[in-house]
Amino acid sequence: SRPFLTLAIESSCDDTSVALLEGSRRVRATALASQIALHAPWGGVIPETASREHLRTLIPLLREVLRRGGVANAPRELSLVAVTAGPGLMGSLLVGVMAAKALAQAWELPIVGINHLEGHLFANVVAHDDLVPPFLALIVSGGHTEIVHVRAFGDYRLLGMTRDDAVGEAYDKVAKLLGLPYPGGPAIDDLARKGNPKAFPLPVPMKDSDAVEFSYSGLKTAVLWLLRRFEGAEIPLEDICASFQEAALAALMAKVRLAVARTGVRSVVLSGGVAANSSLRERMAAARQWKSYIPPRDLCTDNAVMIAAAGYNNWKRGVRSDLTLTPDPSWPL
Ligand code: KG4
Ligand code: ZN
Repeated sequence: SRPFLTLAIESSCDDTSVALLEGSRRVRATALASQIALHAPWGGVIPETASREHLRTLIPLLREVLRRGGVANAPRELSLVAVTAGPGLMGSLLVGVMAAKALAQAWELPIVGINHLEGHLFANVVAHDDLVPPFLALIVSGGHTEIVHVRAFGDYRLLGMTRDDAVGEAYDKVAKLLGLPYPGGPAIDDLARKGNPKAFPLPVPMKDSDAVEFSYSGLKTAVLWLLRRFEGAEIPLEDICASFQEAALAALMAKVRLAVARTGVRSVVLSGGVAANSSLRERMAAARQWKSYIPPRDLCTDNAVMIAAAGYNNWKRGVRSDLTLTPDPSWPL
């Protein structure tokens, strides 16, 4: 029988990505255009610029993936179109959703709108063929910091989330304070490796709360106060990065420990852009109370492979969208 081929589009923030997936996890082709260089001078994503850039790059990426995936001349052999429909930036989401609807209509293909956070979970399904629910998911990105209990695919219970800033947002804001390039996560990750994490003890957010919840705005402010000590003097960048990261990641690990203890679920998947962090990956891999699933770095940050995998799974579960599909910038998981 013919293979099931899912064509997926991801354009929720500042990465444009297209992927062609065969079955549940075989990647036939994938391509990604990063807008980092475009937004870096402004220290963050400019939404209007992001959507215009998606519009410019999407069609060439689509052509490339269809060609490399061997379906350029027979697009009707595709089985499904999957597209990120939220959460994210409205203008960015619109570009992907409109393109996906046009393709679905032109090629008479079914379409399914995918939640970006569910997509991040599916990076783990692509990477680990032994992963089956129930498991816990630590979703850490520029916009989200949450722990979700995945009882079955499609059955998600939010155990707790951040009260204010997301952990990736804290990395980006602290990097800005330190004069590091955008996005701050990778820059802090690199510098922290050369610093002493005990140099400047910073408060571990929500350490004394017995709830699964996070808070990162106070930690950012603590770094700001710390910096004032060095006014006029040379800033010990590596030690500050290591100390910030120590507190930021200790909070994540403590709440995963709590969630494991509360639910009795002993498998934890890591997902979202911050899952690319080298120290978080080491800490998760070393955990003794649970088994960790850690996807390769390129599947952690935004990509269409994870959206295709989520699309296939949704389709198998009977989830369908149609041409009335509209992005929802704040779609909860
Ligand atoms: O999932 P993602 O690509 O986009 C969102 O959906 O937000 O995550 C981007 C976030 C940014 O805040 C970025 O600084 C952070 O992930 N990030 C990292 C690392 N690589 C990316 N944070 C810490 N360490 C890293 N190595
Ligand atoms: Zn993301």
